[in-house]
Amino acid sequence: MAETELKTKVCSWNEWDPLRHVIVGVATGTMVQAPEPAVQRNWPEYGFPYGTHGPLPQEMTDKANEQLDNFAAMLQKRGIRVDRPIPLDFSQEVRTPDWIQKSMFGAMPPRDLLLTVGNEILEATMSVRSRWFEYLAYRPLLEQYFREDPAFRWQAAPKPRLTDESYWKTEFWLEFDRLTEEEQMAHTLRRQWNLTEKEPLFDAADVGRFGKDLFVQQSTVTNAGGISWLRRHFPEHRIHVVTFHEPAPMHIDATFVPLRPGLALSNRKRVPLQQELHDLFEANDWEIIPCAEPAHDTKARLSFCSVWLSMNTLVLDPKTICVEEQETAQMEQLSKLGFEVIPVPFWDVSAFGGGLHCATADVYRDGALQDYFPKQIPGF
Ligand code: ALA
Repeated sequence: MAETELKTKVCSWNEWDPLRHVIVGVATGTMVQAPEPAVQRNWPEYGFPYGTHGPLPQEMTDKANEQLDNFAAMLQKRGIRVDRPIPLDFSQEVRTPDWIQKSMFGAMPPRDLLLTVGNEILEATMSVRSRWFEYLAYRPLLEQYFREDPAFRWQAAPKPRLTDESYWKTEFWLEFDRLTEEEQMAHTLRRQWNLTEKEPLFDAADVGRFGKDLFVQQSTVTNAGGISWLRRHFPEHRIHVVTFHEPAPMHIDATFVPLRPGLALSNRKRVPLQQELHDLFEANDWEIIPCAEPAHDTKARLSFCSVWLSMNTLVLDPKTICVEEQETAQMEQLSKLGFEVIPVPFWDVSAFGGGLHCATADVYRDGALQDYFPKQIPGF
């Protein structure tokens, strides 16, 4: 490839400006994680009862890689530069001075880890031991961007210790599964799940980028300290803390997403719990519409992601959007809203950590930082 084609420029302020350069994850080596305070997998029906761990079956990995590769090729055909992470041996045991963890996770959802805001890419703290070293899969790319773009701001949030003090209980999630929905929702209303406030923790995928306004979901993987850290790190932005009607929230991008200036898609079940969110959108002439019904009733095999990956889309520009190909109702709704919809086969990627938005991380979109919400709501 000619050097001019390779020259990197990092910049992306929102989720909808024309996409020119993106990272697409890789399924290779993804693990069902070994138990740790933050994660307790219990899938006896699929051969992974609690306490066991191991790689996702090879035939699933092959299918997921095929869909990821086809997606990457389609984006490239449209002139978008696509980079891929380099997977590590995720089956290896890892340790820090504080703990030993029997497996890592994978390099599929780059969106969980990398937060692009303007000319900065920020490596999130993450809040799970098996994902503590995940940044290493992206380092070859970040090093390259650093060499090629003198304006690229490469940042990493403070690596957390993740000792037992960062979690309330070692088997929190097994106990949580036995609660009624009302008891589970009490956690959401208190914004308190298994993370303590010992140290700042956040995943990048809990941040929705709307130009000058960042909507950050406090969740099972993002604590109040993490949001406070983000607020201090991005002083020129307005950070809005949001929660939704979801017992165990993780990542905002199957819950509340912008489609283009003036239009946001809200999960029809996970409705926003803050009236101020509605007030802010109304005051600035933004419409919030409920998403369509998802195509699936149940999660994919061995997946920790929900059926709401139906609304986990990738906007290529304010008129063009990629949607999972089985999500016919979602595609129809978006077509009626004036989008050219690109159907993308992607359901087999679910078990590897998400949908089309999760599977990508922005490097470059055209466009400048803009204020889409000049009228603010005090205290929100
Ligand atoms: N983890 C998010 C969900 O499945 C994307 O809803």
